[in-house]
Amino acid sequence: MHIDIITLHPGLLESPFQHSIVKRAIEKKLADVTIINLRDYGLGNYKQVDDAPFGGGAGMVMTIEPIANCIEELKAQRTYDDIIYMTPDGERFNQQIANSLSMHQNIILLCGHYKGIDDRIRQLYITKEISIGDYVLSGGELPAAILCDAIIRLLPGAISDETSALSDSFQDNLLAPPVYTRPAEYKGLKVPDVLLSGNPKQIDNWRHEQSIEKTRKSRPDLLS
Ligand code: ADE
Repeated sequence: MHIDIITLHPGLLESPFQHSIVKRAIEKKLADVTIINLRDYGLGNYKQVDDAPFGGGAGMVMTIEPIANCIEELKAQRTYDDIIYMTPDGERFNQQIANSLSMHQNIILLCGHYKGIDDRIRQLYITKEISIGDYVLSGGELPAAILCDAIIRLLPGAISDETSALSDSFQDNLLAPPVYTRPAEYKGLKVPDVLLSGNPKQIDNWRHEQSIEKTRKSRPDLLS
């Protein structure tokens, strides 16, 4: 899978790809991520990428030409399954969207800043708009990193235990059950007997019941 991320702050996107599962997936060539500095497409001597909004009001708006030129250049090299704008007014990101994006070959993620992008970019190029939650961040970079992490860990071979990603929270609209490891007892708190029983069927049943119970308590909306 190939991911192009268009950003005004490439430095914000360095670390998320240099650790753990995502780093290994990139090393194994399951994913390949290119960070593109939108400033390189800025106009004039000052490499301008923003301007005051028509109609007045506070804040600056990202202008059309740098983004359009950048996207056109990328589209000349590849066919994209989706061109995604990270924005707080987009569709709320969840595991189902991550699952479906993980099947794509090529995607572009566009990170917004300031008051956002000229709406004509949305009309002309953007095929999906995604929000990571109902709060406003300084820009789309951290949301883009979160989206990439959620997608890349799903790619076949990214996690050594193949079944592990499937047992994550949310995969079947249930939260994951509690997990335990050694020691079997700590400060009087014991690991549930069933997990030491060696009986896979009973363990599966217990985990499923715990998932339902946890979801009922923390996220009842997922059950309805
Ligand atoms: N950019 C700023 N805030 C955001 C959010 N909550 N989700 C996606 N992109 C954003």
